[in-house]
Amino acid sequence: MVKDLDQVTDEIQKAILDDARRIYSEKVIDHFLHPRNAGGIKDADGFARVKGPCGDTMYIYLRIDGTRIADAKFMTDGCGTTIACGSVVTDMVRGMEIKEASKLRYTHILDALDGLPDEHIHCSVLAAGTLRAAIKNYYLLTQKSKGKDGRESQKRG
Ligand code: FES
Repeated sequence: MVKDLDQVTDEIQKAILDDARRIYSEKVIDHFLHPRNAGGIKDADGFARVKGPCGDTMYIYLRIDGTRIADAKFMTDGCGTTIACGSVVTDMVRGMEIKEASKLRYTHILDALDGLPDEHIHCSVLAAGTLRAAIKNYYLLTQKSKGKDGRESQKRG
């Protein structure tokens, strides 16, 4: 009985994946099933929370070492495509110069994922926008921490 249930579950999962493969690239499916860099960073050097037009939210946390992004993590309450976009964008910027990362656009995410269906391109726009907002937050916190009042930077995590 248990084995039959396992078989049925496997068949359903296979059918779902077969359907997904008709719509999404292998890279999207891989990043959705095995998201990289999921989670937060305590006392992050840069942080952003951005809500997309569909109502889904993405969070990106950055750890900065000198002029490079040492670590990047993401969280989202969005769809599988959004998970794939958060996974791939955080993978792309880890170890990257901050200035280079700030030039990253949604089209780079689309290229890295071998494309997305038109109705999910906004997920890559959300990921790219959240990354830029996290970098902007890092610059703002850095300016504040260098300010005359000597206030500590307001890290998030
Ligand atoms: Fe809303 Fe993907 S469907 S961000």
